[in-house]
Amino acid sequence: MGCLAGFGWFILLVAVVNIEAQKKPPIKINSKCLGNLLRVDVSRLGGSFLEVSVLINNSSIILTKSVSSQCGFTIKKDHQGNAVIYASVQNCFARNVDDKAFTTKLGLRLQSDNVVEDEFYLVEETCYYSPWASREIICKPNYMEVSVKKPAPNDYNLPAYPYSDPQKAAEQPRDTGFIITKVVFFTPEERVMQVDEAQRNGYGISSTATRLVLRSPNPSHETYTKDVAGVPMTVLSTSIIFEKTKLMTQLYAGAACPQTQGGVFFTETSIRWFLPRRIDPLIHSQHFRLLEVNMGVDGRKLEATEMSARNYSLTLDDLYIIVEIPIGAAGCHIKSHALDGQYFTSYMIELMLELLWTEDDTNEHTRYKAFLPVETPLQLQSPQVIDTTVPEEMMFKVLIGPVGFDVMLKNISSPSEVLSLADCIARGFKVFDQMSPNGCSKVYTVEVPFTDHVVGQMKEMGVTIYTLYLTFGFLVLPNHAPFTATAYLRANLEDIAPPSVSGSCGDKNFYVIVKYGTKGFNFQTIMGKRMLTGSLAQQYGIMGNDTHFSLIVPFSEADATVEAVEMSSIKSRLDVTLRYPKTNTTIQVFSLACNFITKLIECFPNGTITAIAIALESVPSLNPRRLTLRNPACGPTYSNDQYAYFVFTANSCGTTRKFLPNMMLYENEISITDELELRKLSHSKEPEFELKVFCYYDINTNQAIGFHTRHRRSEPYADDARGEMQVEMRVTLDDSYNVFQRIEDNPITKYLQQPLHFEVELMGSYNPKVSLELAYCWATLEEDKMSLPRWNLIVNGCANSTDPHPVIFHSVLPKGRVHYPSNVKRFEVPMFAFAEDKDNLNRQVFVHCEVVICDVRNPVDAACNVQCSDQDNTMKGQKLAVSDYPGFKHVTSGPIIIMSP
Ligand SMILES: *[C@@H]1O[C@H](CO)[C@@H](O)[C@H](O)[C@H]1NC(C)=O
Ligand SMILES: *[C@@H]1O[C@H](CO)[C@@H](O)[C@H](O)[C@H]1NC(C)=O
Ligand SMILES: *[C@@H]1O[C@H](CO)[C@@H](O)[C@H](O)[C@H]1NC(C)=O
Ligand SMILES: *[C@@H]1O[C@H](CO)[C@@H](O)[C@H](O)[C@H]1NC(C)=O
Ligand SMILES: *[C@@H]1O[C@H](CO)[C@@H](O)[C@H](O)[C@H]1NC(C)=O
Ligand SMILES: *[C@@H]1O[C@H](CO)[C@@H](O)[C@H](O)[C@H]1NC(C)=O
Ligand SMILES: *[C@@H]1O[C@H](CO)[C@@H](O)[C@H](O)[C@H]1NC(C)=O
Ligand SMILES: *[C@@H]1O[C@H](CO)[C@@H](O)[C@H](O)[C@H]1NC(C)=O
Repeated sequence: MGCLAGFGWFILLVAVVNIEAQKKPPIKINSKCLGNLLRVDVSRLGGSFLEVSVLINNSSIILTKSVSSQCGFTIKKDHQGNAVIYASVQNCFARNVDDKAFTTKLGLRLQSDNVVEDEFYLVEETCYYSPWASREIICKPNYMEVSVKKPAPNDYNLPAYPYSDPQKAAEQPRDTGFIITKVVFFTPEERVMQVDEAQRNGYGISSTATRLVLRSPNPSHETYTKDVAGVPMTVLSTSIIFEKTKLMTQLYAGAACPQTQGGVFFTETSIRWFLPRRIDPLIHSQHFRLLEVNMGVDGRKLEATEMSARNYSLTLDDLYIIVEIPIGAAGCHIKSHALDGQYFTSYMIELMLELLWTEDDTNEHTRYKAFLPVETPLQLQSPQVIDTTVPEEMMFKVLIGPVGFDVMLKNISSPSEVLSLADCIARGFKVFDQMSPNGCSKVYTVEVPFTDHVVGQMKEMGVTIYTLYLTFGFLVLPNHAPFTATAYLRANLEDIAPPSVSGSCGDKNFYVIVKYGTKGFNFQTIMGKRMLTGSLAQQYGIMGNDTHFSLIVPFSEADATVEAVEMSSIKSRLDVTLRYPKTNTTIQVFSLACNFITKLIECFPNGTITAIAIALESVPSLNPRRLTLRNPACGPTYSNDQYAYFVFTANSCGTTRKFLPNMMLYENEISITDELELRKLSHSKEPEFELKVFCYYDINTNQAIGFHTRHRRSEPYADDARGEMQVEMRVTLDDSYNVFQRIEDNPITKYLQQPLHFEVELMGSYNPKVSLELAYCWATLEEDKMSLPRWNLIVNGCANSTDPHPVIFHSVLPKGRVHYPSNVKRFEVPMFAFAEDKDNLNRQVFVHCEVVICDVRNPVDAACNVQCSDQDNTMKGQKLAVSDYPGFKHVTSGPIIIMSP
């Protein structure tokens, strides 16, 4: 490859196709003096054309290829929208102050298709360069420059003429009055040119106060190739003729620059550049000493540390200065090529060597700076296709690369179709590129779901085989040269059986069995709303084998949900969810709802009632802590978010009582009584929460049952039918209580003064724990118990003491008919005193009693627990509306005919 590789000239077409026309950021300009060169970097050009000109004397001169090589400019661009401009400080247009300060003014014009007005940027930089060596040589790919010191006037002497021997040019003419007239080129034959002719031929010749500058395009007609220690070099050798009136003198000026071919060698991994240590065409003395050797990249001298960090090496032997750099080590200038559909890369770098030597006999120094753009030969770099598919993710994932940044993925084709990148994205493929770790190249990632129809599918013995055959079509920019890479992908996926869950209910527990799916199928189990952790599993008594595990979840656990509370049972539901954590998708939701028989209420013989109110799923706003019994002062003994536990006695908290055949029913209800809380709940659409608490005290056994939920209070509520109580009242004529009058046969006939004995019995009860108590007994003349007049005999369980002949109670003993005395009560009415109607003494009367049935061990009712005092047997203002009091039962005896004696 030629020395000009990678260089662009004059108007740079920086057309980077994969940078779409978009609002581009402002370009970035950076200038820097690098010894006898000025370097200007321009980046972020985007797709714009860059025209570089130099500004002088109010006019602008475009830097064409020939102007650049004649005047000391090099312009270089790459495909990424960057340009580098080098200018010799002694370029034709520099403003030179005393050969020490050199000011160069550049104009950058950017032309873009989608912008109407060109952008224009001005770059002005002054480089100070004073340590001039006697001779300074610059070898740039497009020019060779030599700058030599002019002799001081007092050193002036006349040279020999003609100037056939360039060796003699060492003895130099010196005078300011001299002007350059001719240039003699040794090619090696002499070729004489007038100065203007030489300039027309592309040579730059100028003279400053102390220096003479000669610049030649590289190569040119007047240069020749010479083998120097085996390295071909381009040699420029001239004598510049100065004339002043009749005087004439000459100055030798020459340069020799290495050619890439011959001096540069490549291995697979490195680049080696051999520069002759002694560049013979430039050295005439026997005594030559190399004082300094430096290497650099992109015009910048590198320090030793930087070189070792980059693994660059610089060595000298007898003949050569040897630079060795690893390919791709640093710089990352990878250039892509596509040839015959195959992908090649080359690595590009611009090396620089800077030498300083002296020739002892003249004691004159030469600074020699050679730039060498190196581009490695093309290397076949078929992009690797790396299959990174994880079958469980149900998609093919493939990496293709590395490729240079000047490569673009254009399309993806399968045997049946070709998809542009846009098609791929629309189809649900994922395509993206990433910079590779060394920053020098990029790698494409393509993901194709197994479900896409380009993916082949085959089932074989419990395994599904997915196949995909793809060709990736790439283009190399800027020429759009195509190349391809192919991928044959195959993935096996065991037919996966997902895990499953089943279960059943026991008396108190849910039994849950989870069956593992295919081995390695990772899943999460969620109990209700809670993740099943190891400790929770322990709590639920996890058991298992290779294929299953089981859990026992009590129905009352917080992970279960109460759906309804019914008569002596709770309907509880357990939800078990299996989830695939990687994608957070649900595999199965299993719900098990069962009725669990449970004692929500317990009624103890001593009158203590306990009840549990459980929060229902349908009433989520309910706070069980705020529930109370009928009496709002009776709150739960214990409560939490799930339930409220009440303990109360049958005679407290607003408990009421009903009689049923052989039973007593105590009732209360649990609800929200707090006004504020009620108002809050009424805003929600949830049903009203109310639980009825029933305690049935059976006469024989005492047991508690009953628990109702009902919704809106406004809905009708069907009360239990009230049963009849079997209580009988008998009349006997003596206190033996053995012979009774049969009222059915004849009315009892009695004399007024004769006492009457009454017995009241709870029929059909064989329960000593139940007692029959007489609350009220009275006599009327009519059968209607409410009729008037009436005579109170027993008031609130006690004899009317203000009566002149109060009732006498007789104790009952377990004797004869009487098995359980508590079921029987006896009293005696000594005499009926009908004060109102003394005249009409032949009367019939009816005796009525209100009785209560009490639990002997649990005399909760006031009527069951009466203490009568003989002195003060009055009611103390307490009034009971007899017929309204639900606990009482009536018995009536009669008629009894009362005869006057
Ligand atoms: C710029 O102008 C100066 C003085 O007018 C002149 O000497 C010089 O040659 C001009 N330079 C160019 C490049 O035209
Ligand atoms: C450049 O132009 C300015 C104003 O137009 C003028 O003053 C100056 O003399 C000009 N310089 C040259 C070197 O022609
Ligand atoms: C330099 O070479 C060493 C050893 O050969 C290697 O480990 C290191 O990665 C190289 N450094 C660079 C920047 O290439
Ligand atoms: C796909 O891309 C390749 C390589 O860039 C190209 O040669 C081919 O023509 C493209 N095919 C279609 C249909 O665009
Ligand atoms: C594992 O446990 C499940 C459920 O308890 C049972 O059905 C199955 O037979 C057991 N398997 C083995 C291999 O013991
Ligand atoms: C997973 O999904 C569930 C419900 O679909 C959601 O509640 C949970 O936040 C999700 N978890 C993650 C980690 O995305
Ligand atoms: C009533 O009996 C229950 C059960 O025996 C007992 O827990 C409770 O403390 C008793 N209550 C009273 C007030 O004695
Ligand atoms: C008690 O008996 C007397 C006489 O029969 C009667 O006047 C009085 O009202 C009775 N007392 C009550 C509380 O009924």
